Amino acid sequence: MGRRAFVAGNWKMNTDRAGAVALAAAVAEAVAGERPAAEVAVCPPFVYLDAVGQALRARGGAVALGAQDVYDQENGAFTGEVSASMLKDLGVTWVIVGHSERRHVIKEPDELVNRKVRAVLGAGLGCILCVGETIQQREGGMTDAVNAHQVRSGLAGVPAEQVGRLVIAYEPVWAIGTGRTATPADAQDAHRKIRAVLGDLYGPAAAGATRIQYGGSMKPENAAELMKQPDVDGGLIGGAALKADSFMGIVRAGNR
Ligand code: PGA
Repeated sequence: MGRRAFVAGNWKMNTDRAGAVALAAAVAEAVAGERPAAEVAVCPPFVYLDAVGQALRARGGAVALGAQDVYDQENGAFTGEVSASMLKDLGVTWVIVGHSERRHVIKEPDELVNRKVRAVLGAGLGCILCVGETIQQREGGMTDAVNAHQVRSGLAGVPAEQVGRLVIAYEPVWAIGTGRTATPADAQDAHRKIRAVLGDLYGPAAAGATRIQYGGSMKPENAAELMKQPDVDGGLIGGAALKADSFMGIVRAGNR
């Protein structure tokens, strides 16, 4: 299929400074030693990005540094926010945008998610745009419509030449942190339909080249079966990314 698997750890609001550095070091050492097929990134809290970035670079830099969020403005009076250029300054190469916890807990609207996507891609960074339905939406038969809407609204105004730096993460909200994983067949079905939306927006070649990660209770035990699906190109990992062993178990599942 030609798409390199991509496994990213989303540490969310976890770890402390020493723990973040130790986890990053363990992952970086394992990746340097094993040279897995998958591309690997870790996304620590903002406050530990600098320390984690230094730990990754000291171990060869084979693991990319990602951020969990960003603000869409470059600088100015936006108390508490962080811009794409600040992230770049720390060596960040990937930014997660539109994670369900930001959409549903922090109440970020589609329009802000779109502005963030454009800021990240416009700054030359890689963007992991998260989409996915809630349990109510799934039970109401709205899964495909929700995913299509979040992809289309997230990518509004994004020019084709920036899509090479885009990754979509399909994360059914009911599967995140619940231990309840989408079946490989359900994940494949959603991924295939998301790819069709990308094809509609950017053409079949760009859609075929864009990686679509699965996220939501992915663990070493279920990662291989999920990543074996033709349209599942890796994972965005929460809980299982907080231990180097379990995260590496998922990274190895990308040796497909
Ligand atoms: P989880 O989180 O692996 O803990 O379910 C995934 C995510 O929210 O990115």
